[in-house]
Amino acid sequence: MSTTANEITRFLRKVRQVRDYQPEPVPEDVLVDILEVGRWSGSASNRQTSEVVVVRDPDARQVLATGGASMASRAGAVLVIVTQGDPERQELEIFDEGRMAERLLLAAAAHGLGSAIATLKGDGPAAVKRLLGIPTERRVRTVVAVGVADRDAIRARPKNPQPRKPLEQYAHWDRYS
Ligand SMILES: Cc1cc2nc3c(=O)[nH]c(=O)nc-3n(C[C@H](O)[C@H](O)[C@H](O)COP(=O)(O)O)c2cc1C
Repeated sequence: MSTTANEITRFLRKVRQVRDYQPEPVPEDVLVDILEVGRWSGSASNRQTSEVVVVRDPDARQVLATGGASMASRAGAVLVIVTQGDPERQELEIFDEGRMAERLLLAAAAHGLGSAIATLKGDGPAAVKRLLGIPTERRVRTVVAVGVADRDAIRARPKNPQPRKPLEQYAHWDRYS
């Protein structure tokens, strides 16, 4: 494997959920670059149904935190993914939303920022739609928090290495069994 491929796959393997952030804003040009990566995500039939609302206001981030994305109150910005909410294309929309979320996470990490995915729960989606002026028929569930990682707070958390299954249990060569 080339050095470059090795470096990139190491970077990809090391991206972890960051739930603690320093109280610093994320520069707008960095947010735009992260959004550009998201904009180039592939989508089913290239329908590009995912849109993003960038939430920086602390009061609005608190509503996101109450709605299930607890780290939103500490993040520099939260990227709320909005999809069409077409019941006939729900499975594809959710797949597209997942791809978008992962690219936003990775782009934030490429900028040296911490990032986290979170799912709004209970009344969270309805409250966030009301707050941000998103039509009720749209789907809002997944958000991506980004910010300067608070390394001290992360170190102070109980150790949770989030182990992964061994490769043999996850990858199957040529046949499943
Ligand atoms: C679809 C999805 C939803 C998630 N929702 C949340 C969430 O609401 N809150 C949270 O703290 N983490 C959430 N996570 C993060 C996972 O808990 C995390 O990725 C997993 O525990 C592995 O940890 P790591 O990413 O640090 O390796 C979510 C991840 C995915 C893929």
